[in-house]
Amino acid sequence: MENPAITRFSGVAEGEWCIVQSQAICGDGLAQAPCLAMTGAATAPAADAVWSLTGVSSNIRYTTATERSRLTSAQAPLGRPEARLAALIPIRKNAAWWELAQDERRQIFEERSRHIRIGMDYLPAIARKLHHCRDTGGPFDFLTWFEFAPEAESDFNKMVDRLRVTEEWRYVEREVDIRLKQLNSRDATL
Ligand code: HEM
Repeated sequence: MENPAITRFSGVAEGEWCIVQSQAICGDGLAQAPCLAMTGAATAPAADAVWSLTGVSSNIRYTTATERSRLTSAQAPLGRPEARLAALIPIRKNAAWWELAQDERRQIFEERSRHIRIGMDYLPAIARKLHHCRDTGGPFDFLTWFEFAPEAESDFNKMVDRLRVTEEWRYVEREVDIRLKQLNSRDATL
């Protein structure tokens, strides 16, 4: 039976999202593909897939109860019709990060890097979902997924710029920034 927590992202010839740009921010990039397909893990990657990454949605690790309730009241769901742009940003952190204790990682992640506070500045315009994949043997630790309307694209870019200069990002050893637009977009100028 299909596990709904598992999502497979594949770089394919035909899919629901068109890949506008795929850029290696740090470490190796991913092979170029015209489209992205999102399926469940039970669906085998298409024969023409040039890459395939699988992640699982999981419990929170660092978020406090207060932060969670602020996020819940501010965030928007995925799948909004106006959110015709998306970003898939696969990330791997280095061994030094994973050698830290949970409380040390929280200190860096939020007390010093302000990851959640920075991200909150961009809600509800940016909808997000975090997929974990460190323990499944893939090339990344996280597959981060974001959806937004074209009007929010410059704010999204500002947010990633702010995050990438934080202490947390010193532990990122591979990051690929894949930008997408919906193929069935009604706005031909996108
Ligand atoms: C839309 C604004 C954003 C918000 C509100 C946000 C919020 C969060 C929260 C609450 C967590 C912690 C989940 C937990 O407790 O386990 C998290 C984790 C994470 N976020 Fe963000 N985030 C945002 C944007 C981003 C962006 C733009 C990136 C990538 C460029 C990103 C990458 C990550 C990664 C990799 C993790 C996992 C960190 C780890 O477990 O070591 N986030 N985010």
